[in-house]
Amino acid sequence: MPDFDVKKIREDFPILKRFINGKPLIYFDNAATTQKPQYVLDSVDNYYKNLNSNVHRGVHTLSEEATNEYESARESIRKYINAGKSSEIIFVRGTTEAINLVASSFGSEFFNAGDEIIISAIEHHSNIVPWQMLCERKNAKLKVIPVDDGGEILIDEYKKLLTEKTKLVSVVHISNALGTQNPVKEIIQIAHNAGVPVMIDGAQSIQHSKIDVRELDVDFFAFSGHKVYAHTGIGVLYGKESLLNKMPPYHGGGEMIKSVSFEKTIYNDLPYKFEAGTPNIEGPISLKSAFEYIENIGLSKIEQYEDELLEYATNRLSEIKNIRFIGTAKEKKSVVSFLCGDIHPYDTGTILNNLGIAVRTGHHCAEPIMKRFNIPGTVRASFSFYNTKEEIDLLIEGIIKANKMLS
Ligand code: ALA
Repeated sequence: MPDFDVKKIREDFPILKRFINGKPLIYFDNAATTQKPQYVLDSVDNYYKNLNSNVHRGVHTLSEEATNEYESARESIRKYINAGKSSEIIFVRGTTEAINLVASSFGSEFFNAGDEIIISAIEHHSNIVPWQMLCERKNAKLKVIPVDDGGEILIDEYKKLLTEKTKLVSVVHISNALGTQNPVKEIIQIAHNAGVPVMIDGAQSIQHSKIDVRELDVDFFAFSGHKVYAHTGIGVLYGKESLLNKMPPYHGGGEMIKSVSFEKTIYNDLPYKFEAGTPNIEGPISLKSAFEYIENIGLSKIEQYEDELLEYATNRLSEIKNIRFIGTAKEKKSVVSFLCGDIHPYDTGTILNNLGIAVRTGHHCAEPIMKRFNIPGTVRASFSFYNTKEEIDLLIEGIIKANKMLS
């Protein structure tokens, strides 16, 4: 891409200067977590050096400044995903906590025995287990949309699963294990036509494409900061105000109350009703600066460049005779998952690590889809805009070398 200066961008990420086993680091584990640019690191450094204080409680200057930073981060994040109100942005630890919050709170308010929730066959464990726990608590039923051999969900099967007992649909936007990009807009519309709200797990989409929650008309949308160049321990649950207002608090404690007596506690308004205790203050600051960093480069440029990397990697991998791709959906983002003949993914991953190349191996916290393909796991390379085609060439050389050693 002519106007995308990846060399210059790489300078922004200090960790990319590292050597691993004597070789320059090639980081292809971006679906697990992304690296952090200096701009984001500086924002948190500045917070601790100049502003550190607890939020919302103090009349003193530091507390006011920290509160302003924290709440202005909420407003920036609202704008970034085009939510209607900043009170619809709930800060959580990550996608997993966001889904648990909805399963617990929405589940306790809206689910009764015999009710149903629909997920898909390509979910991460974090979008399976909280619903199973809800089903156990409420004697409800988990229904699963099947996928075809390429890892694409079967929309006609999905339509058949919706009944008058369906209380929620919760599906992943982009699969961490296969890279499949689900047609979430269509999935949401189909559910809404049946009067059913939809939660989208955006852990693997927020970093790759524009998210507009109002355009999607999604009811709940969850993502993690660390997958979008911000720090760990911060994530967002977006929820429509009309639903969040009907839901009971998730955790009890300070901040989430208006008044407490032993007889009766009155809960706070949104978003604080769902933010008990001292929050992660540096997290939203980090996330805000991560979005600023992305906008400064341009998300559409990032997306185009990452799509080119995916296409290049897929083509180059196809040249290797014993490669078997797992996940060949038409719409994919930034992930190639594969096996090399009968070689165990762990062995390929270990040899690649010796060459300084970080890939992920295993079931990627998505055991059911591995079972669907009757495999123990895959080798997964996941790309970000700081990766290069030259790095992909070295990955190919590494795989060929691993094949020779292990076959
Ligand atoms: N969910 C993360 C991954 O896919 C950890 O690697």
